[in-house]
Amino acid sequence: MKINRVSQFFYSPTHTTEKIVTSIGDGTGVDPLKLIENNLTYPGYTETLIDVEPHDLVIIGAPVYAGRIAITAIERLNGIKFAGNPAVLVAVYGNRHFDDALIELRETAVALGLRPIAAAAFVGEHSYSTRDFPIAKGRPDELDKHKARDFGEQVAKKLQSLKSLDKMPALTLPGTFPLPERRVIGPAHVETAPNKCNKCGECLPACPTGAVFFKNGYKTTPELCTICCACIKACGRNARIIISERIPQLRETLAQTCADRKEPEMFI
Ligand SMILES: Cc1cc2nc3c(=O)[nH]c(=O)nc-3n(C[C@H](O)[C@H](O)[C@H](O)COP(=O)(O)O)c2cc1C
Ligand code: SF4
Ligand code: SF4
Repeated sequence: MKINRVSQFFYSPTHTTEKIVTSIGDGTGVDPLKLIENNLTYPGYTETLIDVEPHDLVIIGAPVYAGRIAITAIERLNGIKFAGNPAVLVAVYGNRHFDDALIELRETAVALGLRPIAAAAFVGEHSYSTRDFPIAKGRPDELDKHKARDFGEQVAKKLQSLKSLDKMPALTLPGTFPLPERRVIGPAHVETAPNKCNKCGECLPACPTGAVFFKNGYKTTPELCTICCACIKACGRNARIIISERIPQLRETLAQTCADRKEPEMFI
């Protein structure tokens, strides 16, 4: 099968998934003008979506939250119309594990009429990583991006060798199926420490769910906050603080238990 264009879809609050998906796209060798980026991260994402065409290869990428795909990514993907396209599934996780995330992405893709032909789990710097408690600091690095481009090349070769998608067997992926209940991270959200904030406003557009608003200072609607940490990383004054009983301790534990580098896993 010939690839017409590569339609890349990603949800990526702290940009690691975006780097992996676009590296895979580059690796396919498709003309750069035919690499379409559909960024699902920000509230206005529907205004910039480019329709998928029947002969596009689709790549969908999202971060792993509590062993599953970030729920906002699933909700936004569910609103997209696909045309039976071949698809590459990408989960990006913070060097702990991706658990059932690829299974969830496969089930979501199939329900949307996509035909998964390959999948991968890559590592990105953990959203909770800080200077004092680094977790997968600097990932994806050059080696990860090189592996992502290589994977893109393998995907393109596989697709070119296929005559039709009709007899493709289902992708076998690690994880639990049927999917278990989603784990709850517990009550948590991110707030501004007014004594540190200089009201620069950088945190507001960084928020993927519209949780940050301005009213006598930059504040948060707790129910909209997914603790994605994008506002924390956007703030140059360390003024965005996680309000949670569990996460500060979890961060310290992860910095110790996930210190050994994990490598990307590919299923093709
Ligand atoms: C709420 C939440 C839950 C997470 N759960 C996991 C997890 O179960 N396993 C893991 O390895 N990383 C986990 N992470 C880390 C992210 O998967 C990782 O940092 C990823 O690179 C973020 O992607 P992004 O840069 O595209 O936002 C979690 C991050 C957040 C914010
Ligand atoms: S980015 Fe930080 S300093 Fe700037 S407005 Fe937001 S909290 Fe305040
Ligand atoms: S307010 Fe919550 S959802 Fe918005 S960027 Fe910050 S951590 Fe993410």
